Amino acid sequence: MKAFVFTLAAVLTVSSLFAQRVDEKELQPLSAFKNFPQGAVYQNTSLSPEARARDVLKHLTFEEKLSLTGGYKSFCFPGVARLGLRPAIMADASQGIRLQTIASKANSTSFPPMLALAATWNPALAQAFGKNIGEECKAHGVDFLLGPGINLQRLSVGGRNYEYMGEDPLLTSVIAVNYINGLQSQGVIATAKHFIANDQEFVRHIASSDLDERTLREIYLKPWEAVVKQARVRAIMTGNNAINGIPASMHQPLLNDVMRREFGFTGVTMTDWQNTNYHPDLQYLVARSGQTLLMANNATFAKYIQDFVARYPARKAEVEADLDFMVYPNLYTLFEAGVYDRAPTDKALLNTLPAHKETARQCAEEAICLLKNETNVLPVQRSKKVLLMGENELHSGTGSGFVAGYDHTSFAEGLKKTYGQNFEEAEKPTDAQIKNANVVLFRLNKKAGEGYDVPFEEPQGVNAEIARVAALNPNVVVLISSANGLPMPWLGQVKGVLWTFFLGQERGNALANIISGKVSPSGRLPFTLEKDFQDSPDPDFNFLGGKPYWQGNNNHYKEYWKGNEKNSRKEIAKYVKPHQLVHLPYDEGVFMGYRWFDKQQKEVLFPFGYGLSYTSFTYTNPKISKATLSGQDSVQVQFTLKNTGKQAAAEVVQLYVSDKEASVDRPVRELKDFQKVYLKPGQSQTVSFWVNRQDLSFWDTPTHSWKAEPGAFELSVGSSSRALRFTQVFTLEK
Ligand code: BGC
Repeated sequence: MKAFVFTLAAVLTVSSLFAQRVDEKELQPLSAFKNFPQGAVYQNTSLSPEARARDVLKHLTFEEKLSLTGGYKSFCFPGVARLGLRPAIMADASQGIRLQTIASKANSTSFPPMLALAATWNPALAQAFGKNIGEECKAHGVDFLLGPGINLQRLSVGGRNYEYMGEDPLLTSVIAVNYINGLQSQGVIATAKHFIANDQEFVRHIASSDLDERTLREIYLKPWEAVVKQARVRAIMTGNNAINGIPASMHQPLLNDVMRREFGFTGVTMTDWQNTNYHPDLQYLVARSGQTLLMANNATFAKYIQDFVARYPARKAEVEADLDFMVYPNLYTLFEAGVYDRAPTDKALLNTLPAHKETARQCAEEAICLLKNETNVLPVQRSKKVLLMGENELHSGTGSGFVAGYDHTSFAEGLKKTYGQNFEEAEKPTDAQIKNANVVLFRLNKKAGEGYDVPFEEPQGVNAEIARVAALNPNVVVLISSANGLPMPWLGQVKGVLWTFFLGQERGNALANIISGKVSPSGRLPFTLEKDFQDSPDPDFNFLGGKPYWQGNNNHYKEYWKGNEKNSRKEIAKYVKPHQLVHLPYDEGVFMGYRWFDKQQKEVLFPFGYGLSYTSFTYTNPKISKATLSGQDSVQVQFTLKNTGKQAAAEVVQLYVSDKEASVDRPVRELKDFQKVYLKPGQSQTVSFWVNRQDLSFWDTPTHSWKAEPGAFELSVGSSSRALRFTQVFTLEK
């Protein structure tokens, strides 16, 4: 697909706006207020959030209602001082708190980003992680966390992939639900973002993700349905993109009809920063779309409403009803989360921070994926000489997902603590230093972040450098700090590869525990690593005017596109009119991630779900509870998992379902469940999975409903999407 077009305004990275300070005096709970209007009952905490929100609506003026549809001071929901309602404070997200967005200067933990969290495949850890961040939000006076990011990784080059949870809707759903449950257990409002199919940074404010109904239902809507139904997420943020030509921020069919009416979402829907301002001619779509809050302000919408009422004064009541429709979910959510009844900051919770370091370290440890370990080059005994080379590793991506953290332990510091005199660090070591080491750890970094996608190419010069080092030392282990794909022509020349994502502030302690063997790796890839970007579903997705597009303000990114400098904003402006959309057809349909590579029978570098361990596991005694399934019954598959190696370790067992006789083209197999099982050496455990009719269904577009067709199905249990340990078959009856 060769796309064209562009607008200048669209490249502004609005999250660079910093928060303006909200006065402490503005942040009092309702209990501190005295001058309630006559007859008001919203201060009564024994009433339901619905009743309290309805009562506030009765006391608001038209202008006040209009103000409650837009943001305040860049990162707040406005208060109404006359009624004692305080503003609510927001902060980015998702791997902790981005301090630039709030006034607090105290420490906040940089946990690993969402992609690393997903790589742990550990729902309980995701819940603890969310709860920890919830505690930090309260310690810092944050009412809304602007996360987690739950978009799916459509392409390995997505600039914000590090903020999301990989390519599979089920894995994303499970991790997101647990994170949100943990976060919201603290009364903090989670904001799942960015609704929906906002999967690339390429022309991000004007891209239209064009996809069919079945693909939306089976793939893209799945995590949203899960966070609404299973976690009662209190807020969502709409994407900068359009879906099938309608901007996400005013997409009534999806926001109102699907999310609210069908899934039961009752919370705040906020735009991405300044998004509705990008569509000045479409303001009439906003009010009834299910959108409730225009961030960072509602300037364009407010002007549209004021002009409309000035022109048609007789229709003011009708407009006010529209404003009620927008404002009510905001008020309801703030009452329901207890925001109006408390002050935002609980400084006592700063004492939870030391414990959060433990969670951050555990998550980093469980995320690291061991991709290659020839001749057991890892773990490395403490008596061996270890050389760490290459540029400092990255702990976070850039943009609004960046979380600075404090008290970092770098890779070098963590390894130094473990290997003492036997450890050496040199960014560019001499040949002698390389030869002298027993093991060389080679840092390979790929920057990523908001506002730009990350080309598949290796960072400049890396391939040649690895080949040079591997020729000098037989025991090279490459540490890849990246959330994006890359070629690995050097794979045959190195002994080991660890995918280290970005791992937050505890990364060095986690890495040292893995390298030294204190902990066995248990991370599994939440995405497919393709051999070549040409194998991906949409290799030409970022072409504008026939040339690959780069966003000209990022030096690192420019390096990749040497020779294409002419493709600058000015040149792009030749192809587009302001606010014109760039259409990105999702022609791969439901064949997302591994579904695509399996269907195409493409070899990959490393498949989805892949990761090695320092121990070994057997899968024996597979059983299925019945040969036929009917009605609303479930079928159970069971087996014995045993740790047959010498080290305690966790295995991630993955259940894949294949429909063998379908009237539509279905994926070869799809992940339907998983468990992370921790076993001591010699220990075994029975593992069971249940599968029901819904797990076997596809979206039947003609009837707009789920359909499970009778016939043969396979249930396979694997240690990755391409390492199936056994398969059981059964027949679904009518
Ligand atoms: C980003 C959002 C972020 C917001 C506020 C936007 O540019 O896309 O993810 O929450 O800024 O910083």
